Amino acid sequence: MGVRMAGSIGKGYAKVIIFGEHFVVYGLPGVAAGIDKFVQIEAQKVKDSDDVLFDDKVFNEKLSEKKDSENIKFKLLHAIFDKEEFLPKKGIKFIINSNFSAGSGMGYSAAFCVAITRAMNNLFSQDWKNEKINELAYLGECVAHGKPSGIDNTCATFGTTIWFEKNMQEEKNKVRPIKCGKNLYFVLADTGIKHNTKEVVEKVKKFKEENKKEFDVICSDYKSIVSKAKKEIQFGGVIEIGKLMNQNHLLLKQLGVSNEQIDQIIRIANFEGAIGAKITGAGMGGNVLILCENEKGQEKIINSLIGKGFEAIKIKVN
Ligand code: MEV
Repeated sequence: MGVRMAGSIGKGYAKVIIFGEHFVVYGLPGVAAGIDKFVQIEAQKVKDSDDVLFDDKVFNEKLSEKKDSENIKFKLLHAIFDKEEFLPKKGIKFIINSNFSAGSGMGYSAAFCVAITRAMNNLFSQDWKNEKINELAYLGECVAHGKPSGIDNTCATFGTTIWFEKNMQEEKNKVRPIKCGKNLYFVLADTGIKHNTKEVVEKVKKFKEENKKEFDVICSDYKSIVSKAKKEIQFGGVIEIGKLMNQNHLLLKQLGVSNEQIDQIIRIANFEGAIGAKITGAGMGGNVLILCENEKGQEKIINSLIGKGFEAIKIKVN
């Protein structure tokens, strides 16, 4: 093994989708926020090595491309960087850390792709701007999720609150920053069930194919929800935002991406005075996003959820 050299660090942010998971895949708008949780990857040059190594502290595994080339991390690496002809792709070690978990609806794979892209950018002084980082990370997301909308990697790159519309002609997506009229105090409650985004997106696609008319009605209802939501978020109409989140959740239920644990969390949250609650991310597990009136409301709901065996954290979006 070669000599360890000084490394370069890259971060990719976790996200919450406030409105629009699944709908964004079909070109409808969504609102999402990058949050203060992240995947952090350190890239180091390893002298005299023609291997690539991962020391993954999140999944607790040490991998070498020579032995473990089928591992998804090597596939992501190649999807992201193979077209960057002059970028070295050997003699590198990546050390992965994160302060949130994969499969929880918070965009772990997107945060991973952004973090590794930034780490390589820094290690090889590429001077890539955020837009390029986002484009490269999307190539990795396509391996992780099939044909994702791009909302996750956009949040993972920018780490702020955005209005997002996928361009269905494979051109540039519409991404606009949104300034919230008032801080939004959320609780993110974990069902404890890991989901596979690709599978859940497939499930919705099947629903669409088998229920064309119903799907169209659901989409048209969603469109009206998200356009009202945008105004209310900018204005700071917290109560209205909560109502719209509840309506968005009912549509997600119609698409078949809720489950018993999600419903249970929402019942507990509503009992404790939640203003609104919905799935965030693909659903079928993962996290539930609960809007609270203020920090006191957050604490009350978190205590109750923890008492019932769920993990829950506070999030502030602005
Ligand atoms: C996953 O975080 C969000 C989905 O809408 C998929 C996507 O946008 O690609 C379910």
